[in-house]
Formats: sequence, C-alpha cells, structure tokens
Amino acid sequence: MPNVRFAPFDRTIECAEGVPILSAALSQGYFLRYGCKHGGCGTCKALVIEGDIEDSGSSFALTHADRSDGWTLLCSSQPLSDCVIDISAMGLTDEEFQAGDQVETFETMIERVTDLTPTICGVTLRLVNPPEMRFTAGQFVNVEVPGADGIRAFSMANAPSADSEIELIVRLFPGGRFGEYLKHAEKGQVIRVSGPVGSLRVRLSYRKIIMIAGGSGMAPLLSMLTDLTEKNDRRPVTVFFGARTCDELYYIDRLKALCSLSAHAEFVPVVQDAGDDWNGERGLVTDAIARRMHSLRGYDAYLCGPPPMVEAARALVIQLGVRDANAYFDAFVPTGVAPPSAPAAETSTARP
Ligand code: FES
Repeated sequence: MPNVRFAPFDRTIECAEGVPILSAALSQGYFLRYGCKHGGCGTCKALVIEGDIEDSGSSFALTHADRSDGWTLLCSSQPLSDCVIDISAMGLTDEEFQAGDQVETFETMIERVTDLTPTICGVTLRLVNPPEMRFTAGQFVNVEVPGADGIRAFSMANAPSADSEIELIVRLFPGGRFGEYLKHAEKGQVIRVSGPVGSLRVRLSYRKIIMIAGGSGMAPLLSMLTDLTEKNDRRPVTVFFGARTCDELYYIDRLKALCSLSAHAEFVPVVQDAGDDWNGERGLVTDAIARRMHSLRGYDAYLCGPPPMVEAARALVIQLGVRDANAYFDAFVPTGVAPPSAPAAETSTARP
C-alpha cells in the first residue's frame, strides 16, 4: 500500500488501492481543502514533489500545463508509488490540517421555490439542525437530493449574514434530478446538505473588481456582491450578467438595487438575442466587456457560469490586463459534461 507524505507538515498516510488521496487523508484524521470531491473544482489542487500519481480530474479544473508542472487534484488521484505532496497552496495552518474534516451535515427544510426564468429557479432552504451555518460568500454546499444517488453542488446566493438560511439558484435541464425533485417539492420537505465547501471568495485587496456571470453562475457573485455592500466595501465593482435572451435574465431589480447602494458599483446586463425594446448592451458578454472596459489592469476578476463563457471571459480579462493569479472562476458543469466520476447535476467548480 503506497504511503503519501504531506509537505510542509511532514505527516504520512497510507493510501489503499482505489481510494483517492483526499478520502484517505480525511479518513485518517487530517484536513485537506476540498469542494466537489469529483475532480471538477480545483479546490484540492496540490503539487506532487516525488512519486507517481494517476489523476482523473477534469482538464477545466486543472489545465494540461498545471499537470505538466506536477499539480494534481487529490480528490481524484491515486498514488502509484510512495509520494511526497506539497499542500502549501491550500493555505492551511498546522492546526487546521490536524483538526480533521470540520465540514458539517445540516438538515434543512424547503422554505420556497421560485421560478426565475423558464430554466432556472431559486430555492430557499431554512436551516433546522444545526440552525445556522457560517460560510464565506462564494462558497457552496453539497445537496443530497431525496431519492437520488450522489450529491449536487450549489453555491449560496445569499450573503453570510443570513446564516439561518441557504439560497440556491438551480438550473433546470432534462434529467436533472434536483430540478425534477423541485418541480413537485413542497414547503417543509427535508433536504440534507453538507458544507460549506469551496474556496472562491472575495480577496482582500485594493484592486477594483469585475464580476462576470452567466446562467446560474450569478449565485456566488450575488452572495459576494451582497456581502461587499453590507460591509460597505469601497472598491469599485462592475458586474456583467450575460444571457442569450431577455427571458434568461433574473434578479435584475435586486442587482440594480444592490449596485445603487454604492457610488462605486455598476451593473451591466447583456443580452445576445435582444428584441427592439431592449435598451441595454447586446451581444456576448465578452463583446460588451471589450466595448466598455478598455483596460483591466489593477482589477481582480470573478467569473461564474457555464465553462465556455468562463473560459472566454477569463481569456479576455487577462488580455485586458488582469493578472492570471487575480482571475478567480467558478464554472458550472451540467450532467454529461462533468468528469465521469462526477455525481453532480450541476456542480460549482471554483478556482482557489
Ligand atoms: Fe477536488 Fe473539487 S474537491 S477538484
């Protein structure tokens, strides 16, 4: 059975055949940062210093260049020999590493389900036991859909200040188990979630902020924007929200209201196929950004939505001056696109 030693903490675990390194470490009482647990989000990224690893994570969460540089996703990798793995990039203290997994399971009740667009609904879950969850804006929970196998990951759309409830934005698509369940769900039905997980969060910095969302990817950005507003953060924020048609935009009044609370915030909805009555930006969200933002030097960028949008937006913001290290993303991968081991109907996948 191969041994895996974690630097810089100098602790070694045994990893049985077929057990991912993350699972082995958690079951042996150590904590490693993780999110989706199926190779989609990049939260468990670590550097292999010695030894051979087999990694089946997605190329979105970990690029080919990352892999060539020795990075791996611990939730979807298994050691082929004794290994040394550097987990410094997780930013854990020795105490956190040795404290084991603190992620909790919560019993919640459905408070309401609201149609936001023909293919997206909002779900509010009231926390019952424990009655509160402390989280950071940008994080997500893993939802156990009643009657379905596996878990689905969804970002919180509410700010951490509303810690007795969880607000989710769920994309409905054929075969999506949570969406199917929600069609017939009633207030008071019990749903178990575990979390909070994921490391997407607003970074402390003096840089301006650009947020770019598509589809249900508005959830973590809405949480982060609400949190920034509540904290009276003075950094200028520009929020772009792209949709194919006007029907696909949602929470417009809420976003406008949030941005109107700050002299430094601007909200820009962008519609690809808009009718004559649309007065806003038209085209792809990236077209609108290129038209309005001539330079993004000195910005942090937060990008959430379908992978093609995130990929295109990330390339653009970097071209306009955002440093690669300051472009944080959360791609939402639907069933059939997620890695083969993925249990999620739609998973939030964050770049730490
Ligand atoms: Fe490993 Fe998401 S927890 S990639």
